[in-house]
Amino acid sequence: MIRRDVLKSLGLAAAGTASGVTLTKAEAQELNDALNLALENFGLPWAEPDPEVPGRMNIARVPDDYFMPGRFAGKNVLVTGSARGMGADAARRLAREGANVVGVDILGDLGEETAESIRSEGLNMVFMQGDISQDSVCEEMVRLCVSEYGSLDAAINNAGVMDALHPDEPIDYVNQKNRLMAKIHEAGDEYWLRVMEVNATGTFYSLRHELRQMLAQGKGGSIVNIASVTGIRGFGGTPPYTASKHAVQALTKNAAIDYAPYGIRVNSTGMGTTLTPMYERAVEIITQRRATGYKDSGISLAKSRSLLELSDENDRGSTSAEQVAIMLFLLSPEASNITGATYNTDGGFTIY
Ligand SMILES: NC(=O)c1ccc[n+]([C@@H]2O[C@H](COP(=O)([O-])OP(=O)(O)OC[C@H]3O[C@@H](n4cnc5c(N)ncnc54)[C@H](O)[C@@H]3O)[C@@H](O)[C@H]2O)c1
Repeated sequence: MIRRDVLKSLGLAAAGTASGVTLTKAEAQELNDALNLALENFGLPWAEPDPEVPGRMNIARVPDDYFMPGRFAGKNVLVTGSARGMGADAARRLAREGANVVGVDILGDLGEETAESIRSEGLNMVFMQGDISQDSVCEEMVRLCVSEYGSLDAAINNAGVMDALHPDEPIDYVNQKNRLMAKIHEAGDEYWLRVMEVNATGTFYSLRHELRQMLAQGKGGSIVNIASVTGIRGFGGTPPYTASKHAVQALTKNAAIDYAPYGIRVNSTGMGTTLTPMYERAVEIITQRRATGYKDSGISLAKSRSLLELSDENDRGSTSAEQVAIMLFLLSPEASNITGATYNTDGGFTIY
């Protein structure tokens, strides 16, 4: 079928729909074939730059080491999940922009290593090991910020998990099934409870202590909660992750309403695929699961790539620096008119 035929078929379908005519099986098949061909010839992704698409180019990313000097000068900022991934990059950029940073993470050695590397640039950061699903840890992290730096001005509640494994536990799918991502009818209690406990309850505890401190100080504040695209839409095969990230979005809106009168803004980011250790581990789990012969309908992962991934020659996901840029914008005074919002930092994932 050539391009003219494709367009003719699409015209046929449009006419059929508009006049309420039901397509025959053969016409439906023809339409399906035409659409597939249309996608194949003119659709995405491009393996190579396509000379028939003039002007096509990749979107340039924000550089990994980009920062705005002085934006957070003298501000005391808490970051949970600061040992690695986006939390580590947020802590580093905040410190480079002048903040005094308190980092918290369940990974003690790596957390201390990250903090030491930030301090080695002559910047200010203290680290505390702890599990944010414990109320006492969240109380302590705020207390540490106040005792070290005098107050708490802002916080990024970033720590999160996608399964019930310890964040650096080696993946062994066969023996960990009960703790790893699974559809509801297969999901284990431990999987459900741990993901909810860290992502939803941990964010609640973090907010509770941060807000108490900010209210006591009486000088406002700013908080960013890290959610996910799974906080605003369904995402197959990950029930507690999706439920807990919806909870993070709900807590964000709830807190925005209750604390706006006290000068405190609360926002969230909803990212899609971002290249961090969490993402690498997710790919490893899916790979191991497939190797066991696990059969899936395929619908869970039918839509797994963002608009920008599909548009990019190298099929890229978001970088951590791209996420941190938006977290820090929302945290900064420049976002003074934004509260209760979710920034979908998802490369267009949720709009197509
Ligand atoms: N990477 C992605 O594709 C992606 C997509 C959407 C949302 N997110 C969210 O972004 C946030 C950061 O994720 P990341 O990709 O940098 O992951 P990551 O696993 O690389 O980093 C998360 C950090 O949180 C820490 N942590 C986990 N549980 C903790 C606990 N109970 N107490 C204290 N610290 C804990 C981990 O040790 C780790 O250092 C998470 O909330 C995650 O759900 C990530």
